[in-house]
Parts: sequence; structure tokens; C-alpha cells
Amino acid sequence: MKRHFRHLRRIVDDLLDVTRLTTGNIQLQRETVNLSEVLAQAIDDCQIALEKHVVGVDVASGVAPLVSGDPVRLLQALSTLVDNAAKHTEAGGRIDLSVRSDAEAVVVRVVDTGRGVPSEMLPTIFEPFVPARARSDGSGGLGLGLALVKRLVELHDGTVAATSAGPGRGSAFEVTLPRLDPG
Ligand SMILES: Nc1ncnc2c1ncn2[C@@H]1O[C@H](COP(=O)(O)OP(=O)(O)O)[C@@H](O)[C@H]1O
Ligand SMILES: [Mg+2]
Repeated sequence: MKRHFRHLRRIVDDLLDVTRLTTGNIQLQRETVNLSEVLAQAIDDCQIALEKHVVGVDVASGVAPLVSGDPVRLLQALSTLVDNAAKHTEAGGRIDLSVRSDAEAVVVRVVDTGRGVPSEMLPTIFEPFVPARARSDGSGGLGLGLALVKRLVELHDGTVAATSAGPGRGSAFEVTLPRLDPG
């Protein structure tokens, strides 16, 4: 019951978010955000999903990965990517998370060794309702997660990209946001 309820609630939340986002009805509450802190929070939120994986985290030293953004919405975007990586990677597979920044940009990468994305699916993977392969355990969503990620990242003047060497060969998702220069 509980699991089904959570699953349903997530689908309803996603639908409401997509509606708000497509009608332009989302206000970002912007502040100075350190993306490595957001990533740490995302990992925390996905703890249960990540339990069965080898997780590597690499936050490069150097300029602080600061952006002007809404911490709640950025967390939503990164959590979706981390959750997807866990969901589509077998137990014992590896998930590598990294944050790097230079003067202009902050780049977050979520790389997994999971089932990968077929090349024909890559060009449309960020579109809403990309048919998720039906899963017998009922864990499949509506295919809205990545559409939300893209919209949220674009609201922050950023970009998101996906690459994969093909089925069974893992995937990489990369979010690039303009770096906030606090000076
Ligand atoms: N890390 C990943 N590895 C392999 N496939 C992925 C990954 N992330 C997303 N996908 C594919 O993209 C589809 C859409 O993802 P998403 O938009 O998050 O949908 P949902 O909201 O249903 O989880 C998934 O059903 C899956 O087929
Ligand atoms: Mg998903």
C-alpha cells in the first residue's frame, strides 16, 4: 500500500510540475547555491536507491561551484538524475558523481555502468512521456523525470545532455550551469 501510494504521489507530483513548468508557472527562489552541497543532499535523498551500488563522489577542488539558483529545484533535478542512475543500474554496478567548476561554468556529471540508453532514444530522452520501458515491478514512471530536469536546468540558464555507448554500456548525464562569480 505504502509503496503504491508513494509511487502514485510521485506521478501526480510530476504531472503537476510539468503543468506548472509548461505554463511558465514556476517561480525560482534564487539564492547563492553551492552545487556540491546540493549533490551531497541528492545522494542523501537517494540513499536507499543507492544502497546496492558502488558510489564514487568526486568534488574537484578549485573555484567554488557556486550558482545562482533555487536550491529546492536544483535538488529536484540532481535527485532525479541520481535516482535514475540507481534505478537503471544493476546491484553491484557503479555510479560516479562529480562536480567540477571553472571560471564560467559548473558541471555536474552522473555516470553509471547500467543498462544504458539505445542510440535511437538519446535524441528524445528529455521529452515528456518518452515511453519508459514497462517494468514488471511497477516502478516505471510516466517518463516525466528527465523532462522536468531539462526544464528546471533551462530555467537556471543551463543545459543538460545525455550520452551512452549503447545498451548495457552505461549512461552519463551532464548538467552545466553558469558559475556565479561572487567577487
Ligand atoms: N541512467 C539511466 N540509464 C538508462 N536509462 C535511463 C537512465 N535515465 C533515464 N533512462 C531512460 O529514460 C526514460 C525516462 O526517464 P525519466 O524521464 O526519468 O522517466 P520516469 O519519470 O518514468 O522515471 C527511462 O524510462 C529510461 O528508459
Ligand atoms: Mg526517472
